[in-house]
Amino acid sequence: MSALQNRIIIVTGAASGIGRGIATRLAADGATVVVADLDETKSQETAAELGNDSIGIATDVTDRAAVDAMTAAVVKRFGRIDTLVNNAGWDKVEPFMESTPQTWDRVLAINLIGTLHCTQSAAAHMIEAGSGSVVSIGSDAGRVGSTGEAVYSAAKGGIISFTKTFAREVARNGISANCVCPGPADTPLFAEISADNPKLRTALERAIPMRRLAQPEDLANAVAFFARPDSAYITGQTLSVSGGLTMA
Ligand SMILES: NC(=O)c1ccc[n+]([C@@H]2O[C@H](COP(=O)([O-])OP(=O)(O)OC[C@H]3O[C@@H](n4cnc5c(N)ncnc54)[C@H](O)[C@@H]3O)[C@@H](O)[C@H]2O)c1
Repeated sequence: MSALQNRIIIVTGAASGIGRGIATRLAADGATVVVADLDETKSQETAAELGNDSIGIATDVTDRAAVDAMTAAVVKRFGRIDTLVNNAGWDKVEPFMESTPQTWDRVLAINLIGTLHCTQSAAAHMIEAGSGSVVSIGSDAGRVGSTGEAVYSAAKGGIISFTKTFAREVARNGISANCVCPGPADTPLFAEISADNPKLRTALERAIPMRRLAQPEDLANAVAFFARPDSAYITGQTLSVSGGLTMA
């Protein structure tokens, strides 16, 4: 039997980049994936490619009512939520002293508050079932800092420390919570944030000991590990997947 056979897994932001890579890997391991992304058409197209009865549900993770409706629809259709992957994220690279509170609000709302909404909403169903796991995509920016990403680093650092406390609180309910922290990864988001700085990619490839950016599959492998039922005793952990760029 495949490692994730019959598991019901929600992946936010799964219509692009790392989230799409995660969804593809989880489906290949047997999971039924709920693609919860902003765009309905893209969510449904992605889900159709995954197979295993996977579905797409248009969801804005910053909108609590939409998140609650999504988790309720998943439980109504499949009976439970085994794993939530908090992957939806966004960033704008600029010096902190040039950034505006409007940008901070957006960065914090999508990355940090979105993770809180989805986690609380999905975990309510997991607590009722007495089992589940939450895997949140942090960033090495949240562990070691990253120039031009001050508020994003705060949001991702928030996800990392939130995960530890949440993991302590829900361990007695049979729920685990862990963080996977990508280093620079080859995705549409990276293309967007490096558009004004074409030398960034080459500089990073030189700095990363493995001499390449992460591919979505590299992250997906770590998420699949935490989602496996036999990883249930591992909780509150933070794993960097960065080709050796950061070691902590
Ligand atoms: N690419 C990198 O170098 C890198 C590095 C570290 C961490 N990360 C993190 O990895 C995750 C995935 O990033 P990516 O590079 O694949 O980005 P991406 O832009 O390629 O994909 C992000 C997806 O999230 C969706 N999304 C955005 N806002 C949303 C919202 N409010 N509700 C629901 N979905 C929303 C987008 O529609 C998109 O499909 C993010 O959390 C990001 O912060 C990326």
